[in-house]
Amino acid sequence: MRATRQHPRPPLPRRNVSIIGTGAYLPERVLTNADLEKMVDTSDEWIFTRTGIKERRIAAEGELTSDLGAAAARVALQNAGVDAREIDLIIVATCTGDTVFPSTACHIQHKIGATRAAAFDIQAACSGFLYSLITAEQFVASGVYDTVLVIGAEKLSSVVNWKDRNTCVLFGDGAGAVIVRSKEGCNGILASDLGSDGAQTDILSLPAGGCRMPITAQVLAEGKNYIQMSGKEVYRFAVNAMIRSSERTMELAGLKTEDIAWVIPHQANIRIINTVAERLEVPGERVYVNVHRYGNTSAACIPIAMHEASSAGQLKPGDAILMVAFGGGLTWASAALEWC
Ligand SMILES: CC(C)(COP(=O)(O)OP(=O)(O)OC[C@H]1O[C@@H](n2cnc3c(N)ncnc32)[C@H](O)[C@@H]1OP(=O)(O)O)[C@@H](O)C(=O)NCCC(=O)NCCS
Repeated sequence: MRATRQHPRPPLPRRNVSIIGTGAYLPERVLTNADLEKMVDTSDEWIFTRTGIKERRIAAEGELTSDLGAAAARVALQNAGVDAREIDLIIVATCTGDTVFPSTACHIQHKIGATRAAAFDIQAACSGFLYSLITAEQFVASGVYDTVLVIGAEKLSSVVNWKDRNTCVLFGDGAGAVIVRSKEGCNGILASDLGSDGAQTDILSLPAGGCRMPITAQVLAEGKNYIQMSGKEVYRFAVNAMIRSSERTMELAGLKTEDIAWVIPHQANIRIINTVAERLEVPGERVYVNVHRYGNTSAACIPIAMHEASSAGQLKPGDAILMVAFGGGLTWASAALEWC
């Protein structure tokens, strides 16, 4: 992994940027490892020991990524005490949007009645939520916008090959959302690190559906319209990228391991999470984990985890939180935040 350029904060004036409300939505249907045993040649024992996943949620037939995102957004708005018409900008992180265009952000804007908002999607696969949060930070810090809704929403069940045991056991559907604003008396986002390595586009991708490989009968027969992944290579990349990015962000934020109250990592695999935590020397009880319940929901993992931790009263004002993710691209991202 090459070193990324670091972006120290430009000189003032910049506003502090905080998360003032969180929300999440998980579809009702639970697909357990036992259910998967009936679909492909796998076992609960294999899935749990290799990944830590016990079950995942699957969206209903007509339930779209925008429905999941809109539901999470409504919770976040209520939680923050903000009306949808106050939103200036909606950024949606997704790699399973409703349509190639228009953006899923536009679909969600309409569904929640955010009539004043500009709206666009960000595509950075599983790192997408942090890419979006840091993009939102720039708009709020500069004073261009006051209120930004950032959503991570995925219907991965629609791009998973349910006959491929290498991938179908890993993913799930869901959405998380946050409201981003400047808040008096809170430092909010302290530092961040975003990076990508476009030399490794092929180890985790959905090849078909773009101009490179339009959908044809042959493409469908070959299953190229589903996620393709070299699991071991992705695993190696993930561990290194998450550790290095976390270290960069902590250094930029002036934080030491002992200052971090919570690490909220991308929830792809418990072994990746545990290795990263060990190498950063963060004790397990300060690492938020829900991969056993939802599997990998890509861009939705971190905001779902954040909403759960916040709702359970686990995040206290003043806590320093480190979020870190990796994903297709390849991409990586981390951010440190003071909880308000
Ligand atoms: C995919 C992953 C769980 C596999 O774990 P692993 O420890 O690398 O797997 P192993 O090498 O021990 O096992 C691979 C074997 O298990 C088999 N296998 C794969 N999936 C299986 C399943 N669901 N059930 C049973 N066996 C399975 C493979 O066919 C392979 O068999 P072979 O050795 O006979 O060819 C792991 O590599 C991983 O998590 N990678 C990262 C993936 C990821 O996070 N992707 C999303 C990124 S955002």
